[in-house]
Amino acid sequence: LLVNASEALGRPIPKTLFGIFFEEINHAGAGGLWAELVSNRGFEAGGPNVPSNIDPWSIIGDEFSLIVSTDLSSCFERNKVALRMEVLCDSEGTAICPAGGVGVYNPGFWGMNILEGKTYKVLLYVRSSGAINVSVSLMGSDGLQTLSTANIIASASEVSNWTKMEVLLKANATNPNSRLQLTTTRKGVIWFDQVSAMPLDTYKGHGFRSELVEMLAVLKPRFIRFPGGCFVEGEWLRNAFRWKASIGPWEERPGHFGDVWMYWTDDGLGYFEFLQLAEDLGTLPIWVFNNGVSHNDQVDTSSVIPFVQEALDGIEFARGDPNSTWGSIRAAMGHPEPFDLRYVAIGNEDCGKKNYRGNYLKFYSAINKTYPDIKMISNCDGSSQPLDHPAHFYDFHVYTSANNLFTMANQFDHTSREGPKAFVSEYAVTGKDAGKGSLLAALAEAAFLIGIEKNSDVVEMASYAPLFVNANDRRWNPDAIVFDSSQQYGTPSYWVQSFFAESSGATVLHTTLNSNTSLIASAITWKDSDADKTYLKIKVVNFGSDQVNLTISVDGLEHNSIQLSGSTKSVLTSGNLMDENSFKEPTKVKPAFTMLENAGKDMDVILPPHSFTSFDLLT
Ligand code: AHR
Repeated sequence: LLVNASEALGRPIPKTLFGIFFEEINHAGAGGLWAELVSNRGFEAGGPNVPSNIDPWSIIGDEFSLIVSTDLSSCFERNKVALRMEVLCDSEGTAICPAGGVGVYNPGFWGMNILEGKTYKVLLYVRSSGAINVSVSLMGSDGLQTLSTANIIASASEVSNWTKMEVLLKANATNPNSRLQLTTTRKGVIWFDQVSAMPLDTYKGHGFRSELVEMLAVLKPRFIRFPGGCFVEGEWLRNAFRWKASIGPWEERPGHFGDVWMYWTDDGLGYFEFLQLAEDLGTLPIWVFNNGVSHNDQVDTSSVIPFVQEALDGIEFARGDPNSTWGSIRAAMGHPEPFDLRYVAIGNEDCGKKNYRGNYLKFYSAINKTYPDIKMISNCDGSSQPLDHPAHFYDFHVYTSANNLFTMANQFDHTSREGPKAFVSEYAVTGKDAGKGSLLAALAEAAFLIGIEKNSDVVEMASYAPLFVNANDRRWNPDAIVFDSSQQYGTPSYWVQSFFAESSGATVLHTTLNSNTSLIASAITWKDSDADKTYLKIKVVNFGSDQVNLTISVDGLEHNSIQLSGSTKSVLTSGNLMDENSFKEPTKVKPAFTMLENAGKDMDVILPPHSFTSFDLLT
């Protein structure tokens, strides 16, 4: 492998090249990245007709001790369903309540992870026909282990109208499968609504599950595309994600049923929170909005203007003046400064749909007129033929076999260098080559990304999909990060992305590989400004089943030479091509990091069969 390290012959890589795509799929957000522990906190998931299904809430007690139902008495206009609990037993008299009381419990999203010494904030709205004494407790899943408890005591006049109550619970033990209980031993009728439990320490105090955000931060993403995917489209427009329903006080959000991935979300992780997450990660938000097209119904172009206005309002919410109509709502939510929204995608995978082009043009011209600096992404693929409509970027999605994706390392070699650039916003190996995240899939993706790095004059951005899966709701395999209530690990595909964390904004160098069809390589030079060091990073995929002895020769180093000390090597490989990580073996396939003992201008290196290696040379 010949590497010409002369920056003059290299090409700057876009600063935005590698990012992430977050979709509300697989309970990635609700029950995942969003740290809310209560599932169906507003009792709306069962629908607006009462009595309704209160799942996953369950009842503690029997029909002789309490009657639990729902009614439409909530004080929140957009989510009227509230829980009504008629307690028939008491602490004295003929019908004595069982020890521990009667009430309801919520198991969260397949168990709440409660950690010893940590504090959890429980907020709830309550109303009653009389005085109340309610125990708010974090319990083990069997209801026997008490991790923390406190009482809400109020006189009849204090709770005759809906009242917000707050309780801080400090856990005295750890249990990843806990539940939240509301119990009482006092006769009467109590209504509950909007019951929330959150750990006090979340990422930057903004409600995100820290361990999961930290895994994202490792990738140094330069953008975050959100909130879908099909989630944005909906099977039907009536169930598509609507940004306006996802902002403002959390208690007032109606929540919605995502009918593509088939689960309810309270929309605690809403449009504002996505923008906040982008800011917290130091990355650029890319907002995908619905263009009046779902999987099964479409708004006619002649009627699409109200949808266009929704998008314009959404942009104003993100970056408008704090005195503007929508900017003022953002300011009231605690963020007077505008968010740095520079990109929007008009729809998701809708290019072939009847009304797409017509609708797209309405959005494009209105946004261009009001926000001329906003860059817009079309759903139509412009990689093989020019687009027939104006766009700043075009979306490119690929889910395929390992061999196909490996050969697609050349996908953009012959793309026209004129016109809009590609946003490869979803790519992955899927199907039997991938399983739930195999080494094989990851190696093919590494090759594809090397191809993207080399073609980054025509590819502006790329992100893997999907990003997250809660192991209890695998709607889509594979995914980059697997988690449950208390654990998480990266699949090999996640680790491949970490090899590209330094690529955005670096310089891609000229490389020549002597013909070995199972190898793909690239080289970049990048500067670690914090440490004031410059690195030459050479990445090679060996997709074949034989070990390869490779000579790497570096030419054209202008000022510096390669330093032995500080040069390292990372190798991603495993005993078996189909090896995957799991909760039992979370690091079975993970890069192994060693010092590079023969770092120099000419190096003889060994590439293990089926491997991805990065040589990081300090210059
Ligand atoms: O990433 C999973 C799904 O794949 C996305 O929702 C959609 O855009 C694509 O079809």
